[in-house]
Amino acid sequence: MQEPVLGPIEIVDGVFWVGAVDWDVREFHGHHYHTARGTTYNAYLVKAEKAALVDTVHAPFASDMFERLRSLLPLDRLDYMIVNHVETDHSGSLPQVMAAAPQATIVCTANGEKAIRKHYQAESWRFQQVKTGDAVDLGGRTLSFLEAPMLHWPDSMFTYVPELALLMPNDAFGQHLASSGRFDDEVDRAVLMDEASKYYANILTPFDKLVERKIKEVQQAQLDIRVIAPSHGVVWRKFPGDIVQAYLGWATSAGEERVIVAYDTMWGSTGRMARAVVEGVTETGVEARLHLVPTSDRTELVRDIVESRGLALGCATINKRVTPAMAGLLEELRGLRPEGKIGLAFGSHGWGGGATKVIEAVMEDIGVTRAGDSIEATYRPTATDLASCKAAGRLLAEMVRSS
Ligand code: FEO
Repeated sequence: MQEPVLGPIEIVDGVFWVGAVDWDVREFHGHHYHTARGTTYNAYLVKAEKAALVDTVHAPFASDMFERLRSLLPLDRLDYMIVNHVETDHSGSLPQVMAAAPQATIVCTANGEKAIRKHYQAESWRFQQVKTGDAVDLGGRTLSFLEAPMLHWPDSMFTYVPELALLMPNDAFGQHLASSGRFDDEVDRAVLMDEASKYYANILTPFDKLVERKIKEVQQAQLDIRVIAPSHGVVWRKFPGDIVQAYLGWATSAGEERVIVAYDTMWGSTGRMARAVVEGVTETGVEARLHLVPTSDRTELVRDIVESRGLALGCATINKRVTPAMAGLLEELRGLRPEGKIGLAFGSHGWGGGATKVIEAVMEDIGVTRAGDSIEATYRPTATDLASCKAAGRLLAEMVRSS
């Protein structure tokens, strides 16, 4: 466990960040998400006549949170424990909080209570279920709640403090980014948006339509939002409008005019084909990015795919199928289901094919529009095969450009 490096930080009048910075973590969700720049687990204490803790931290970081909390409030004075989302990176310290503050009432959605009871020994804990529009009066500050089911769990909700125009939306608008600064204007802006886009692409892509609907619901309600304090990364105090607009763009766009060429190869033949596809794309003036699937950063590769309209997938055939690395990527795409892609399959094989058929089936399953037939080469691609790859890359890029 690491020592706290920062005291509590007041993010707006009477609301304090009491979370933890995890500089070291490189794998999140098991091995699913590569957190190249670490992350934070943000918890916030709202102090008025009454006090509420909004979310907790991943259990190994509980002592960081408690040290910050105790400098602000004796825990037997905590009135409410707001649980916006039960995933354990946010609720993991709940047992310790409830042990230190058994008088506190847990405020969450109905699905939140169900999930908390499944995760923890919660028999003695007091719950208050809330729905959209419900509020808790802290005396001078109001916590009002907005359910956000499937953004990204059934239990998810946002907490809003109207007097401060502060939204605490848990995972939404977050970034896996460890930093010494707690605010958007204290970190490199390009790095911030890079991590925010990776986060959206890898976690929220399946929920594009729900994201769009939820943002429009908030806009129609004309909530005054000046500060967005998510549960990972920095607090948006200077550019809250930018991240909301970015989310709307990511939720509604099929991606940029760009082609991602992602491949796996055994003895280099499919690699030569991949580079020929890249040449064809490049000749049209459309940007191409090449990824060797087993060695590329998977989280960045997925983000590149989600944020680009063109996708060329190539793989050598092994045992009539794709390689394990390509199979993993295809399975991830089947789950994420990025919309509006234009695709091409290619690959080399020896005495029998199979890889392009596997890729074609996944492209069909997730609704990719194919740019021509798949390109296959036997053993080593000939000059004619490579010319076909180049022509296919050109066609793919032209279709991307006109889409
Ligand atoms: Fe950051 Fe869904 O937990």
